[in-house]
Amino acid sequence: MTKSSKVASLIEELTRLAESGRPGDRLPTTRELATRFHASPVTVSRALSELAALRIVRTEVGSGTFVAPRQRPLDPDYSWQVVRLGTAGIDARRVEPLAATRGGADLLQLSWGFLSPDLQAGDLLTRAGVRAARRPHAWEIAPPEGTPELRRLFAASMGADADDVLVVPGSQSGIGLVLRTLAEPGDVVVVESPTYPGAVVAAQSARLRPLSVPVDGEGLRADLLDRALDETGARLVYLQPAFANPTGITTSPARRAELVRVAQRYGAFLVEDDWACDLGIDGSTPRALFGESADGHVITIRSLSKIAAPSMRIGAIFSRGPVTHRLRAARAADDACVPAPLQAIASEVLASNDWGRHVRAVSGALGRRRDALLAALSEHLPGMAPAVRPAGGLHLWLRLPPGVRSAVVVDAARHRGVLVGDGAHYFTDEAPGEHVRVSFGAATEAELEAGVRVLADVVGTVR
Ligand SMILES: Cc1ncc(COP(=O)(O)O)c(C=O)c1O
Repeated sequence: MTKSSKVASLIEELTRLAESGRPGDRLPTTRELATRFHASPVTVSRALSELAALRIVRTEVGSGTFVAPRQRPLDPDYSWQVVRLGTAGIDARRVEPLAATRGGADLLQLSWGFLSPDLQAGDLLTRAGVRAARRPHAWEIAPPEGTPELRRLFAASMGADADDVLVVPGSQSGIGLVLRTLAEPGDVVVVESPTYPGAVVAAQSARLRPLSVPVDGEGLRADLLDRALDETGARLVYLQPAFANPTGITTSPARRAELVRVAQRYGAFLVEDDWACDLGIDGSTPRALFGESADGHVITIRSLSKIAAPSMRIGAIFSRGPVTHRLRAARAADDACVPAPLQAIASEVLASNDWGRHVRAVSGALGRRRDALLAALSEHLPGMAPAVRPAGGLHLWLRLPPGVRSAVVVDAARHRGVLVGDGAHYFTDEAPGEHVRVSFGAATEAELEAGVRVLADVVGTVR
């Protein structure tokens, strides 16, 4: 057991001990507790300090440690809030999977939008963290738009100008910022169908109305987008041109050009979620759409959370023209700055010689995992082979056989220890069929094969 897990388990034991006593009861001495729980006195002291901070125990210097008075709530009545708040704007059903953590080691994680810890840039981040913490003025405030160093690095990766870059704490935050800054409550925001549920809840949070426009094998349908913008006057279109979540579709070059033309015709912004820009597998990662609109119709959002680690909450919004000032002002209104030490870590990592190696290693591993998943599907679930073999990203989009409900499959698979994504969460209105999303970033090849076996069993049973 590591030192910190010893402290954590001792905290649990001591909490139980305190809860079994009455307020004011004296706890045994540190030495007695150390003997009883087979821990060192230092570990006991650390556990007791944490319990004191949690107000479970109270320490009196020279007298000992006592069970603290319990802080019992008085059974408050919150029912007035139910009436006052009215109907919830954000669809909690969609938030739940977004807010999920990776889950226990006993689960096969085939529904996770990040990399498994073995593929994350843990060592690189740790080394960068040490260097960042040693920088002079490491804890000073940073400009609200981000440090000049990090903005330059992001700009270089995009072939953009540093002035076009606004640093944000991850792309979810960036999507929310763009949507609520550039549209008014009640406005329509066009989204692809199916789309990333995080964009839908960001739109809902900004009191916008998401309007679905279907995709085909080449990306968002430009003819239908034209009609949607004409009919609604919407000025925002949220889309993922590369390795879309959940479909894996990459927008074709011809379609990209058409979409930019439609945006120009209606004076709309294409909000490009380029979340998978570092997750190309087959060496064919498309350039961001940002480069295809010199006149500012494309706003691109990128993030390091996918390629580095989920808690690397650093992203960037790329934009041109007056909209950049609007976004910068809105960001400053939100928060003083993205924590400077985190920006320094990002800069250290992006500038390091090992970064390219890390990106290539992830690409290779994702390729092997994707292929293992495809192979397992063609062996165990041949009827459910995906329509798209994604050239990057993390997900496969699978259509269930007729009559099989996604919610039933997801539940049954979870009962058997396998997590897959419910396709219903990716549509904002009537879903054209039942789907599950199966992700290959967080499971090993063997786990993917084991997960697909269970999925095949489940689909066969619930059919
Ligand atoms: C398509 C897409 N966009 C954005 C995000 C949010 O990423 P971040 O961790 O940078 O907030 C996710 C995360 O799952 C995603 O799948």
